Amino acid sequence: MKGIILAGGSGTRLQPLTLAVSKQLLPVGDKPMIYYPLSVLMLTGIRDILIISTPVDLPQFKRLLGDGSQLGLRIEYSEQAQPNGLPEAFVIGADHIGDDSVALILGDNIFHGHHFYSVLAENSRNVNGCVLFGYPVQDPERYGVGEVGPDGKLVSIEEKPAKPRSNTAITGLYFYDNAVVDVAKNLKPSARGELEITDVNRWYLERGTARLVNLGRGFAWLDTGTPDSLLQAGQYVGTLEERQGVRIACVEEVALRMGYIDSEDCYRLGARLGKSRYGEYVMAIAQELTAV
Ligand code: DAU
Repeated sequence: MKGIILAGGSGTRLQPLTLAVSKQLLPVGDKPMIYYPLSVLMLTGIRDILIISTPVDLPQFKRLLGDGSQLGLRIEYSEQAQPNGLPEAFVIGADHIGDDSVALILGDNIFHGHHFYSVLAENSRNVNGCVLFGYPVQDPERYGVGEVGPDGKLVSIEEKPAKPRSNTAITGLYFYDNAVVDVAKNLKPSARGELEITDVNRWYLERGTARLVNLGRGFAWLDTGTPDSLLQAGQYVGTLEERQGVRIACVEEVALRMGYIDSEDCYRLGARLGKSRYGEYVMAIAQELTAV
């Protein structure tokens, strides 16, 4: 499976924070926002990753992550000239996807939960159709909304409906089979003038091959769309990290635990981060996992 992180857009609701910096590079806790979606793809077992962003912002992502080899990954970059909609990721990324399946994650989506690794592993195997991840929210009208029938099967998906049929938001993590490239290429813009991911998902739904996995209570899917929610996301992460002494979305730790790098590599990455507490954590994890 290949991975795509879509990290473009103009972040207008976060201005002036985003006047000079991409939204997906803003800090959430003590790390850039993109570390969170990147670690989700890494936990899924994906090592070939395409990062898509605006022509102006792309150089900063390259500066942060390079070719990914330090994390045992292959990271490539492509430009999205205009925010024409999420499905454009599959058109821009067609060569990257090749004849493989693909996971798309939005660069501003933050997930955290117990056993997420198993949920990802289980649902990324042999994707036949699409896999969507649902999460209960109190303001579903702000999202794609999924409605599930009595048999637990998905019956409808709507984009930002005025009257939502359920409180299940469709999160910004999607697994697709290879057909998604052609579906995206043939998609027509919606009334908003954009290509809509919900139309892609509906294509699968109409063929009976869209599956919804409910993340449910006890799981965190955090919003980063406004200054308040961004701050809350940072506080959530900071509170858990402080209490438990472990870090969320520490990409060096994920790379080590997934076996993409060894503990010496990991230690070096931590040492490179100088005297920051994050760097100290990376070095400590490298030593701890060597000792085992
Ligand atoms: O976060 C989940 C939601 O994401 C889903 O529930 C919705 O179904 C889906 O349409 C999307 O809704 P948003 O209102 O969050 O979409 P937005 O246009 O804000 O784009 C999401 C992120 O993707 C944002 O950080 C900017 C980036 N983006 C967006 C577009 C339209 C791009 O990189 N390129 C684009 O063309």
